[in-house]
Amino acid sequence: MQKVLVLNGPNLGRLGSREPEIYGALDFGQVTAKVEELAKDLKLEVSVRQTDSESELIGWIHEAVDNKCHVILNPASFTHYSYALRDAAVQITKAGLSLIEVHLSNPHAREEFRHTSVISGVATGVIAGFGVDSYLLALSQLANR
Ligand code: DQA
Repeated sequence: MQKVLVLNGPNLGRLGSREPEIYGALDFGQVTAKVEELAKDLKLEVSVRQTDSESELIGWIHEAVDNKCHVILNPASFTHYSYALRDAAVQITKAGLSLIEVHLSNPHAREEFRHTSVISGVATGVIAGFGVDSYLLALSQLANR
């Protein structure tokens, strides 16, 4: 079964209570459950994780490369400035794996600093603005590839 890591950056563990008007009412556990449910239908083996630590997130990306896992990544605020995360992320596509960058909100419709992604240039594709469905669309895309 194809393995997929669904990785989430800082503050996404606060979903549900963090700015629900922007990020939705589901908490992280509920988002995880939806992702796991669709993954099962699509016969993908997923591991959904969240961390506030850049170092831990980079370690998980190294793990994905070493274990040949595709990655769905919501880098959260690291999207906008983490060259360290980008340098890790580029290894995913260089290894012939897919990297789909996802966002719950549409960063381009928000503050100016969110209009830049240092990750998009090394991603296979980007899905943003569809709430939890951004993750589900990314999973469906991986299943079709
Ligand atoms: C986010 C958008 C980022 O700008 C923000 O820092 C987040 C969440 C999203 O999913 O919409 O934490 O990645």
